[in-house]
Amino acid sequence: MRKLLVVTVVGILAALVGERVVRLRQAFLISREIEQMEPANCQIIKGIEGGSEDIEILPSGLAFISSGLKYPGLVSPVKLGEMLLMDLNEEDPKPVTLRISGGFDLDSFHPHGISLYKDAKDDALYVFVVNHPKISTTVEIFKFQEDEKALLHLKTVEHELLHSVNDVVAVGLDSFYATNDHYCLNDIGRALESLLGLGWGNVVHYSPKEVKEVAAGFHFANGISMSHDNKYVFVVDLFAHSISVFEKHANWSLSPVKVLQLDTLMDNLCVDHKTGDIWSGCHIDAWKLFYFDPEYPPGSEVIRVQNILSENPIVTRVYSNNGSVLQGSSVACVHDGRLIVGTVLHKALYCDLD
Ligand SMILES: *[C@@H]1O[C@H](CO)[C@@H](O)[C@H](O)[C@H]1NC(C)=O
Ligand SMILES: *[C@@H]1O[C@H](CO)[C@@H](O)[C@H](O)[C@H]1NC(C)=O
Repeated sequence: MRKLLVVTVVGILAALVGERVVRLRQAFLISREIEQMEPANCQIIKGIEGGSEDIEILPSGLAFISSGLKYPGLVSPVKLGEMLLMDLNEEDPKPVTLRISGGFDLDSFHPHGISLYKDAKDDALYVFVVNHPKISTTVEIFKFQEDEKALLHLKTVEHELLHSVNDVVAVGLDSFYATNDHYCLNDIGRALESLLGLGWGNVVHYSPKEVKEVAAGFHFANGISMSHDNKYVFVVDLFAHSISVFEKHANWSLSPVKVLQLDTLMDNLCVDHKTGDIWSGCHIDAWKLFYFDPEYPPGSEVIRVQNILSENPIVTRVYSNNGSVLQGSSVACVHDGRLIVGTVLHKALYCDLD
């Protein structure tokens, strides 16, 4: 009798694990055929080899790029972390490394999600960068010094609620929303969170006065961005293949508006300053990213979402590649008819859109 019970329990557990593995596979992969496509005139940007995980572009055409991410489960970057600047107004724009001053420790700089904040009072530009100096995360706030092509380090933000930050969107001089992609910090805990589909990813609002969770229940909360009228916040759930739209309130709380389901694994979001369209660099196969094999590299995909608030948003696939050109795209931004696509640990691509 006892044996039967044990066999039954083991059987149920095995079935449960099997079902979870299938679900996890579905979360990591998209099952449709990949049709390769690219806009006109795509070129690899010279000088970016160690990733271009997140990109933000100012309306003026200055693009900020984070490079050299070090993240649990991924292969180590080929270079130390750095922030790059590219002026997209130039005919043949070249990335330059921004000098970092203010006594900041560059040896443990592993930049991840970034956000730009223009202060209306002093007209200065602040650059918020998620950093992984050790196992937990920090958000580094810099002031951009355009003439010197430098970033002056102002502040390191650390908080127990900012334990596994992936991306940020700045909403004030020292105020931002951040996504935590996991609750656990160690590899086993993170794997279990994904395997069991616990949905422990969340969004936190930080200000020096108050830090609070404002949204929860994400399987892997990833890119976060704001609509171009600053009224809505968009949050990607990588493993749920969705973008959640929230209305932002004066007290920083977020109320859910809608969830847009997509057939791809979005990473970071970029909002077109002119049109309000949302652009995303997506993963076709996240498994290949975490279990990297140069023979079968992860592919890349770019999508554009128009009118996300309407009843029928238009989703267009703009770029798709099996990894032969671009591996593991994580972000896509547009400026003036040109598209720039960044990757977790690989190169970056520049294309003409029309
Ligand atoms: C924040 O503001 C919203 C909208 O005004 C309101 O519904 C919500 O209850 C407020 N939350 C808190 C915690 O005060
Ligand atoms: C990717 O596609 C190209 C053709 O477009 C093909 O030559 C190459 O073998 C493919 N690579 C992989 C890893 O499937």
